[in-house]
Amino acid sequence: MITSVHENLNRVAQLYDDEAKAYDGDYSDALTLGGDNLFRGHFQRIVNKLRQRNDGLLSIIDIGCGTGIIPGGVNYQVQPFLDTDDPSICYRGFDISRGMLSEARKKKSRLDLLQADMHSIPFPDNTFDLGVSGYGPFSYSLEPEIVVKEFARVIRPEGKLFIMPYTARLGSGIATGFSTAHMDGIPKMYYTEKLIKNILETGNFQNIEAVGINFFGHFIQQAVNTFAFKVNPKYVARQIRSFIDLTGQLTTNSLLQGKIDSLLSEWRRQRLMLTSQSPYDGPGFTYLQRESQLAKLLCIDPGLARHMIITADLRK
Ligand SMILES: C[S@@+](CC[C@H](N)C(=O)[O-])C[C@H]1O[C@@H](n2cnc3c(N)ncnc32)[C@H](O)[C@@H]1O
Repeated sequence: MITSVHENLNRVAQLYDDEAKAYDGDYSDALTLGGDNLFRGHFQRIVNKLRQRNDGLLSIIDIGCGTGIIPGGVNYQVQPFLDTDDPSICYRGFDISRGMLSEARKKKSRLDLLQADMHSIPFPDNTFDLGVSGYGPFSYSLEPEIVVKEFARVIRPEGKLFIMPYTARLGSGIATGFSTAHMDGIPKMYYTEKLIKNILETGNFQNIEAVGINFFGHFIQQAVNTFAFKVNPKYVARQIRSFIDLTGQLTTNSLLQGKIDSLLSEWRRQRLMLTSQSPYDGPGFTYLQRESQLAKLLCIDPGLARHMIITADLRK
């Protein structure tokens, strides 16, 4: 078992070494940039809260920092999420892939980055106010309890965690567009809200909140516009949930498959229309924001979105 976990880590590093140069370009469509914007909003709120509490100071660890989106932005299209030149901010980042780290250094040469594995984070106990891990690194762990233990060790009591594991929907491969989650055949964990909450609670985190980014927007919207929704939103929510559950399991029933395919192609058409419009701060963002609010209203598991944002506090 130990060997296979190590082999897996090597394969992940190799995958991202190979992908590093193309990575930012692969994630520059309107919906991703809109998603980045939602990510930024949630991240900013946490950073502001922590800095208020700590007289403006912040120490942050970026776990699986990749090409350095947080300190360096995306491909000159998205501004950095954090001003790491600000002396009151102590930013450290690490990743298992040298290739990804070297792309991050190209964006910003003076970053404090190192190659390391999140199962054994190379920092002392109680070092950081905030642990952040954007777009998927946590899902690459086949021993998530060990990683959560590491998070809890290096984050200070009452510090915060912000992670974005891959979702159950990404795992199902339904209408997700390009994703490095699908590139490789490397085993991963795809999370529902319940699963990630269980793991974090067991690992001494509390106040765990999950927000989904990018559901089946068009489908949700259609359902919400129905009379049934006005009369009984919970019923509509159940219908939507069972539809999405089905799409996750579908393999053989061709009648059902046909029906779902046509819904999905309509959804994709909507999505194409969106991508031809202004990408950043534009419709991609407002669309995702609206969709995210609707999903919350309908109590749809954020694990059925394309990405999930999880925030949590470390207990005292
Ligand atoms: C989809 S990328 C996300 C990168 C970046 N956080 C972002 O928001 O764009 C996943 C990253 O997780 C890293 N990763 C996967 N397993 C890791 C591990 N065990 N330790 C450290 N980094 C890991 C990969 O090398 C890759 O850079």
